[in-house]
Formats: sequence, C-alpha cells, structure tokens
Amino acid sequence: MALLPILRYPDPRLHKKAAVVERVDESIRKLIADMAETMYEAPGIGLAATQVDVHKRVVVIDVSEDKSKLLAFVNPEILERSGEQICEEGCLSVPGIYEKVSRSERVKVCALDPRGEPFILEAEGLLAVCIQHEIDHLDGKVFVEHLSQLKQGRIKAKLAKQARITA
Ligand code: NI
Repeated sequence: MALLPILRYPDPRLHKKAAVVERVDESIRKLIADMAETMYEAPGIGLAATQVDVHKRVVVIDVSEDKSKLLAFVNPEILERSGEQICEEGCLSVPGIYEKVSRSERVKVCALDPRGEPFILEAEGLLAVCIQHEIDHLDGKVFVEHLSQLKQGRIKAKLAKQARITA
C-alpha cells in the first residue's frame, strides 16, 4: 500500500469529472487500498479518487468510531433521496475549513464492491452526508461550492494565506 498526495482546493484538478470504471480489476483494488490507507492516515472519514488526482469513480468511506467499517464504492449512484439535514462539513482537500451544508437526510445508493459485485446501501445521517460529499467530488464539486460566493471568496483568501505561511 502507499500513501497518496491529496490535492488542495482551489486546485483546478478537483473540478475534473471522474470517468466510470469499466472493469473492477487489480489496479482498482490497489487504488482502493491506497485510498483507504491515505484516508485513515490523514485522518478523514471519506476520500474520493478525484482528491488523489485519479479521475475514476471510486470512493472510500469509514464513519465508524473505531475505524473498522471500511466501505468502498465503485461507480456509486444515488437512486433515491429524501429529507433534509444541515451538517457541518470538512474536507481533506480544504484543510481547516468547516461549514454547514444542506444535504438529503437519507439516500439509497448503488455501486460495485471491490470484487466488482453490485450492491445497494441505504444510509442516513453522517453516512448519507459523506456519500453525497464524496460523489460530489467525482462530479468535480468541492463542498464549499454549496456556499455563497462571498463565503467561497473568504475561504480562498484564508487558504492562500495558510499556503504562504506553510510554504
Ligand atoms: Ni471532501
């Protein structure tokens, strides 16, 4: 396994739309393993392939307390959504920024697992938020883009300042 570098907002590569995975093979299983290691090390609760500059529809998530329930989604698609929840979100690509975003309370998602087998998952609460946040990444959207232009401008300025300090 290997740790992968994570792109930082506003890197334009975060806006690429990820391609559908045609075949779940060894290279995809290796990507999933590397992404999981990178997510746990960060530490984070979700990571989309887009964030490690691989533009394929692959997501890993683990919202469990003890980091024991890794979920991997290849070609995830939301089939149904209902309700609304407002949750404070963060993102490994937008370090230090936490903002409230409105999402669906419940989602039903279908995807392929690491063996290429299809599955359906019904999720609510934090897991539902995380699934929506990560699928947004695959579509080239970062969570701050759900916020007002004014807030997005402030966040960009704050991140640019951070980058200058740490450079
Ligand atoms: Ni994110």
